[in-house]
Amino acid sequence: MRAKLIAANWKMNGSFALIDEMLKALSPLLEKTSCDVVILPPDVFLFSLKKAIEGTRIEVGAQNVHSETSGAFTGETSAPLLQACGAQWCIVGHSERRMLFSETDEFIRGKTETLLRHGIRPILCIGETLEQRESGNHEEVVVAQLGKGLSGLAADDQLRCVVAYEPIWAIGTGKTATPEQANSMHRIIRKELESLASSEVADKMQILYGGSVNAENADTLLSQSEIDGALVGGASLKTDAFPQIVAAGN
Ligand code: 13P
Repeated sequence: MRAKLIAANWKMNGSFALIDEMLKALSPLLEKTSCDVVILPPDVFLFSLKKAIEGTRIEVGAQNVHSETSGAFTGETSAPLLQACGAQWCIVGHSERRMLFSETDEFIRGKTETLLRHGIRPILCIGETLEQRESGNHEEVVVAQLGKGLSGLAADDQLRCVVAYEPIWAIGTGKTATPEQANSMHRIIRKELESLASSEVADKMQILYGGSVNAENADTLLSQSEIDGALVGGASLKTDAFPQIVAAGN
């Protein structure tokens, strides 16, 4: 049985005040829920968040990393630096980085390998555009991104990764994939994991859904057999909505 994981991607948002307010809103719930919770704020809040969650079950992560571990890369953050701030997780391959910062599958793979070497668990995001879905290419696109992200990694390393299926047309648009659409793509991803990794990896790996998850649709999405959690953007900044999504993961 895979545990549910609810991850909050704050993107380029948040504040020191939100850290306190969100933890206050989550704390009564954490005793009652068994699902895992990860908050991924902008890097500047990592260290404060790490201190603030001490003694709770919440874990912290970053939204991006460079594939190199040090050097002249102005403005970038390395895995050892994230580790020093307490990051346990890091998103790689988010569609906003693929599209707005032209990140390639090769660069993303380099980031994943560096994170794994530094004990940080990657959340690999994959997903198709609306055009790709409408032309019937969505399965092929997602399977190719998955393979480039994970194939050839040691089994132990694959088991440290989480995959997030985020159809690009559902991100920040209010247009969620239907539970059936999401569940069916998750099933394809799991089947592919069996051939590119092993049946153990396919069975154990958590596959999250992301794209306009909110307090209203979380229950239905999270009750699908293949959906092991959610990567939440906009609603993860709301102190009323995010705890409700965490509660839905129970
Ligand atoms: P929204 O929940 O705002 O659609 O964002 C999803 C996302 O990109 C999470 O990584």
